[in-house]
Order: sequence, then structure tokens, then C-alpha cells
Amino acid sequence: MGRQDVILSTGLSDSLKAAVEQIVHDRLFVLTDETTLHLCWPLISPLPCMQGAQMITIAPTDENKTLESLAHVWTALQQGGATRRSLLICLGGGMVTDLGGFAASTFKRGIAYINVPTTLLSMVDAAVGGKTGINFGGLKNEVGVFNGAKAVILDAEFLRTLDHENLLSGYAEMLKHGLISTTEHWLELLTFDLDNIDYARLTQLVAKSVKVKERIVEEDPHEHGIRKALNLGHTVGHAFESLALEEHRTVLHGYAVAWGLVCELYLSAVRMDFPHDKFYQTRLFIKEHYGKFPFTCKHYPRLLELMAHDKKNLEAGQVNFTLLADIGDIRINQTASKEEIEDMFDFYCSE
Ligand code: GLY
Repeated sequence: MGRQDVILSTGLSDSLKAAVEQIVHDRLFVLTDETTLHLCWPLISPLPCMQGAQMITIAPTDENKTLESLAHVWTALQQGGATRRSLLICLGGGMVTDLGGFAASTFKRGIAYINVPTTLLSMVDAAVGGKTGINFGGLKNEVGVFNGAKAVILDAEFLRTLDHENLLSGYAEMLKHGLISTTEHWLELLTFDLDNIDYARLTQLVAKSVKVKERIVEEDPHEHGIRKALNLGHTVGHAFESLALEEHRTVLHGYAVAWGLVCELYLSAVRMDFPHDKFYQTRLFIKEHYGKFPFTCKHYPRLLELMAHDKKNLEAGQVNFTLLADIGDIRINQTASKEEIEDMFDFYCSE
């Protein structure tokens, strides 16, 4: 996977122009979902470099990260005369950048694409690092490829279009980045005022977060080793998310990750001696801003099943965790017994 050019934009117009001009292309396509078509496309549609771009629009939200939406993008590229030298701009949240990146990576065996993430979650996670894909057979991100965008443009202007819940959702991934980097970074995140957002400060924190992710992805692009650090909070988080989906409860990804972080830090404290004061402070912060995932012991068997099916497990039936011995002291490829996992859930439920 080639190195991605992550551009911290101070003006969308100039950054986009520079990125588009740098990639030689015959036709330009812009992928949006119905939401970003209305909220975000108007911010870039007047730019000279966007004139003549052909629009492709898909239905929003993760439920539509499907084979049908993917086929719609392939069809639109084909009917729009796309060749191997065409360029696709993915303008949207993680759903658009994941699916668009996969469409571009597979169409005619791969065309160039640029990510312009419009949510905090996609800026700090999905759009950076080259993971692309769709949900399939009831499982999230089941089919996809590693293939980075030629450029990723991060522009703080989009953050102002986000509601508080979506902002918090992205912030959970930033918190994860803090936990896997340094105590100083983690403290900065814990002391940021989420109720009165200072957007300039948030932009600096986004840049810091992306650097943590970039550093790890550069070292291990295909997730054979240290990239698994980025899965902290996700083993449990994904299970919460899938359970919520089955029960038709709406849960934003970052909220599930935040709740997953509490569980996995508990396991880290029990198994790896993760410092109790840091665990306590993190858990207090998460509880204050994200509340709690409501579930009871009747859900344990299903949660265990969901975790056992995670594609990140190394062996069938064995649940793989990333744990911490301290902030930045990462222990990948940890497994836990059914009893340890149930004890972790008991702790979470009783808190
Ligand atoms: N979202 C985790 C990763 O990109 O590896």
C-alpha cells in the first residue's frame, strides 16, 4: 500500500485543487451520500476544479454499506465512461469513504481515489489508513481490501456541520489514540471541554490523532501486528454495536467504542495491571459523556458469540483483544477465557 498524502487543510479550495491537479486523470467522479450531497457538496461544487465532475449518490448510514450500493457505484462509473485513469472523490463519512474506496480499488482493477472525510469519526479513523470495504452476510466490513486513497483532505470546516452526538462518536476514536500513545496526549483529550467546543483546538487534536494512526499504519499497513493497537475497545465495541443492531437500537460507532474501552481497560487492569487511577479517570469521562450501554446477563451468550465471530480473531472461537499495561504500553494478541469475559461484563453492568 502506497503512502497516503494526509493534508491538513487550511482552505478546502486550495487543498482540493492541489490534490486533484496532482493526479493525472481523464474523468472526475464525486461520490456522496444523500446527506453529504446536501450538506457538504455545496461547499466544494463551485470550485473550478470540480466543474464537469459526475456525481454518484448513495443512500446514507451504515445499513446501506452493501453490495447493492457498491454495484450502484460500479454501474455509475461504467455508465459515466470511467477508465483506469479516472479519479473518484469520496465526500462523506466512513460509510462513503469505505464503500467508495472499495469501489475505486476494484473498478477495472483499481482507479485512484481521494478521501474528503466530513465527520470527525472518518477524519480520525475510516478515511486514513487504507481499509476499504462493505458489510456482508450480517457482518460489518466483511468484504474489502487494503488500499489507501492517493490523498486524504482533512478540513475543520466540516466539523461545524456535525451534531454533538456525531462529534462525540469521533472523539471516542481520538480517546483511543490517546490511550495508545502518551499520558500527555491522553490527558489533553480528557481535559478538552466537549460542551463548549473550541474548533481550533479540536483541529490540533485531530491532527495529533491522525499522526498516531498514520505512524502505526505505516509500520504495519496490513494489520499483522502493531496495527491491532487500533482495535483497542473494538472487540467489545463491535459486539455491542452488532447486538444493538439486532435489537433495532441505534448506537453510533464511537459510543460503542467508548463503552468497549471501559470493558477492555477493566480487562487490562485485571490482567496487565493497567493503573487504576488512569482507568478510573477514563471511565468517569466516558460515563459522563457517553452514558452506558444497557444490557444484562441474558445478553452475555450472544455477546460472546458475536465476539467469537470477529474476523480479527486468530483462531476460530478464541477472542482476540488488544490490552494495555499502561498508556502507550500496548499488548496485542491477548485472549481471555469465557469466565474472564463474563467477569468483565459483570463489572460493566454493576458499575
Ligand atoms: N479502524 C482501525 C484501523 O484502521 O486499523
